[in-house]
Amino acid sequence: MTLQDEMKKRRTFAIISHPDAGKTTMTEKLLLYGNLIRSAGTVKGKKSGKFATSDWMEIEKQRGISVTSSVMNFPYQGHQINILDTPGHEDFSEDTYRTLTAVDSVVMIIDSTKGIEAQTLKLFKVCRMRGIPIFTFINKLDREGKDPFELLDEIEEVLDIQTCPMNWPAGMGKRFLGIFNRQKEEFVRYNGDEEETIIPYTELHAHSDLTENAMFQDAKEELALLDEAGDNFSLDDVLAGEQTPVFFGSALAPFGVETFFNTFVSMAPAPGPRKSTEGVVSPDHPEFSGFIFKIQANMNPAHRDRIAFVRVCSGKFERGMEVKLSRTGKTIKLAQSQQFVASSRGTVEEAYAGDIIGIYDPNIYRIGDTLVTGKDKFEYDELPQFPPELFKKVTAKNVMKAKQFKKGLEQLVQEGAIQLFKRHRTESYILGAVGELQYEVFQYRMKNEYNVEVMLESIGERIPRWLQAEQIDESLFDEGNLLVRDREENHLVLFRNEFALNWFQEKHPDMKLIDLFEVN
Ligand code: G4P
Repeated sequence: MTLQDEMKKRRTFAIISHPDAGKTTMTEKLLLYGNLIRSAGTVKGKKSGKFATSDWMEIEKQRGISVTSSVMNFPYQGHQINILDTPGHEDFSEDTYRTLTAVDSVVMIIDSTKGIEAQTLKLFKVCRMRGIPIFTFINKLDREGKDPFELLDEIEEVLDIQTCPMNWPAGMGKRFLGIFNRQKEEFVRYNGDEEETIIPYTELHAHSDLTENAMFQDAKEELALLDEAGDNFSLDDVLAGEQTPVFFGSALAPFGVETFFNTFVSMAPAPGPRKSTEGVVSPDHPEFSGFIFKIQANMNPAHRDRIAFVRVCSGKFERGMEVKLSRTGKTIKLAQSQQFVASSRGTVEEAYAGDIIGIYDPNIYRIGDTLVTGKDKFEYDELPQFPPELFKKVTAKNVMKAKQFKKGLEQLVQEGAIQLFKRHRTESYILGAVGELQYEVFQYRMKNEYNVEVMLESIGERIPRWLQAEQIDESLFDEGNLLVRDREENHLVLFRNEFALNWFQEKHPDMKLIDLFEVN
């Protein structure tokens, strides 16, 4: 098989959803179809150990190395599927965002009873900004949920993306009858625990129990409205991230999941070209290249090794091959490589564009690093920094440990574990993170790797904005609107709330405030 064949087979994506919308259930169903697992309940679920933050450290220690954000891969209908897990709620961190830089598309799961919810909205926004194609699955149709039109409107409005329903539900909850498959022109009947039945539109007349049902008739009218409005489906728009195909179903039943997945696999993009310092690199470029989007440190002090997650972007990876680290020009032999399958790791012998591999990191890599073979010297675009929301002052408990404190802080910041800011006048350190978990990991690693106990003092949730002004009048800022500098010496203001931000902007229209989300 040629490089091009291998690359074309790949479907590398993340499933994102609000907690409880059904990500685990959906993932499990996909793994079942891929024969990766034989029964439901194998993937970490609520009962089997979706753990709280406090348990997390213990689990990390026991396992040696984290699998909280793993990669699942399996062949499916001639394709090679790579699913990247994005940890949600209390596990939410900058890594969650960074994972999105390593995928070619995402599956967005929405709970039909709830619609779009806050935390995930941020993830969807990152997808929108990066132009990542989004495929939507509206879940839990077996429950009484929101009106389908209302859900579509919500997606369009909140995410500013066009929707195109690929199927249309008839009824919901206890009165859920099934879905119209618009592409295939057939009605897929929901039979509860029994197998679904498929009825072509042309044979519906023979099913009077359906056609005489008021819910069915309503749905047919809605469908006619949709058809009348015209088929707005455009694969080009989907691939450009401007339109999202929407599927309705139930991950738990499962109902509509297999059809969804088959359509997804046929439409979702294979790995595409990526921008680098030497221009665009095609995935079938003969030399190997990839970038590091995540580094997972070992939480066990007895094993200080780390794993760097590499997204392969071109060529072929072979175990034991020598690569060059573009940033330093140093040559490294990749003898230890791993692939992540659910919670067990196997050794990977070869990999192609779209695949994710884990390589042993003897403390030389940084997030965003590019690895290449041959004469190539390019680096892939820097990974964006994602806006932190939680800010804390950090100091060493013991002032005698100032040197280790600085060293640890510098290294962990460089590694991308947490973001560092300096307060304007006092030069005191302020840390920024996307989620609480990042602080726990930071504190733990400072103690175990650098032998420094740190004190963290919360300054709460803040709204950070970059500040651009001819001159910065420091007297305008205080504890509420805190002026800080980032690592590149850019000025930022950490506003206490939306109100303070708006008030400031109105008072000082000459000062430009830039949303960190807008520039990614
Ligand atoms: P998450 O990973 O996105 O957090 O969600 P997860 O799959 O764990 O699902 C959250 C809850 O929603 C689970 O119930 C799950 O069984 C249920 N669920 C998922 N898909 C559907 C669906 O299509 N229909 C219905 N009715 N429920 C669905 P739980 O009671 O919280 O957990 P469990 O005890 O069933 O594991």
